[in-house]
Amino acid sequence: MLQKPRGTRDFLPDEMEARRSVEAKLREVGRRFGYREVCTPEFEELDLFTMRSGPGIIEEMYVFEDKGGRKLALRPEITASVIRMYINEAKVARKPLRWYYFADCFRYERPQKGRYRQFWQFGVELIGADTASADAEVIILAHEMLKATGVTFELKVGHLSFMKNLLRDLDPILQRRVMAHLDKKDFDGLSDTLANIGKSDLGKALTDLVACRSLDRAFAIAGEIPEKERIRQTIALLDAAEVRYTLNFGIVRGLDYYTGIVFEAFAEGLGAENQILGGGTYRLAHLFGGDDAASCGFAVGFDRVMVATGQTERKTEPVVAVICSEEGRIRSLAVARAFRNSGFRTESDLTGRGISAQVAHASKFADFAVIIGKREAESGEVTIKDMRSGEQATVPLDDAIGRVAADGAR
Ligand code: HAM
Repeated sequence: MLQKPRGTRDFLPDEMEARRSVEAKLREVGRRFGYREVCTPEFEELDLFTMRSGPGIIEEMYVFEDKGGRKLALRPEITASVIRMYINEAKVARKPLRWYYFADCFRYERPQKGRYRQFWQFGVELIGADTASADAEVIILAHEMLKATGVTFELKVGHLSFMKNLLRDLDPILQRRVMAHLDKKDFDGLSDTLANIGKSDLGKALTDLVACRSLDRAFAIAGEIPEKERIRQTIALLDAAEVRYTLNFGIVRGLDYYTGIVFEAFAEGLGAENQILGGGTYRLAHLFGGDDAASCGFAVGFDRVMVATGQTERKTEPVVAVICSEEGRIRSLAVARAFRNSGFRTESDLTGRGISAQVAHASKFADFAVIIGKREAESGEVTIKDMRSGEQATVPLDDAIGRVAADGAR
């Protein structure tokens, strides 16, 4: 038997309904903040991702050559594509641009709970605003979106300039190596690397910075940094908006394009893969031939959010089964159409079995059975049976629709 590729999943209807319901909540929050949906290709020129996304993600990419010999990659993330699109299509549009997307990404990672090779991100990019208010808006939006999903989460907010200031004398490759140790909380690896380059004196300041949870203390450890005022303003705005967060100056982020504020959210009960959101301010536009548009964004790891919610979303709408004898079959079409036109999920019998066999079958999935036998076909009424209470009555079609509507409104 053929199996699906490793790290991919099939979604049956119950799961898809739960996913669509959470997706709708995220879209609604985005809409209320004035963000509008965009869509980019599933595959892009390989160069788009090799330019700035960083070595981690490049190793994980699905890369292929098309029949014309072009080097392409399945998108491992969507920020680079969105910025490419901004330069191709919307450079002259009114700024700031407030965009969101919901789309699948591909990373060749070792699959485990919450880590897949095909996964979905719900992401947001704010392009062309370079203020504390812009940074704060994006973090407030991230906070609101996660709240709307119902997951229990912790939001951590940091800023790269603290660590960069401590590491300013190291070349970029060494900076990245040191930051990778800190990202993984690999303090032994960190002291080995620092010892090898004769910078052991940095070890204490770096570990203090990672442990520190206060802005004043972080400034004291890292020294004067030019972004100081902007950072203070952003944090003040988050406090005013009652965002629940903790400061964390050890956030490094796996992608290389971030420039300032960085933030991540973690959910309870997910094990090792518990990061459900990541983002920050970044600059990519100038790399792709555009202006140097300041941008800030994040992506929600949608599949991890679904694992964290325990997929508790359940259908709440009533389901109607239309059941008929041969004499009632023609009329059953009009009855089913009337229920559908009233907005109800309505399933017609397709088996041609006897009425009692159809009712027994309907009891497995329907809240109401609407029966059109010989009697109802002649009288023009329908028999409606509440499958949970067992009550039934023969009534005009409109009354039957009214009963289902009253149940749906409860
Ligand atoms: P990222 O942190 O690489 O950031 O991914 C965002 C989220 O996607 C992660 O926090 C995680 O929840 C989820 N995720 C990542 N890899 C997997 C996987 N293999 N399986 C399931 N979920 C996964 C970005 O991609 C940036 N583009 C975010 C961003 C937008 N920054 C600015 N704008």
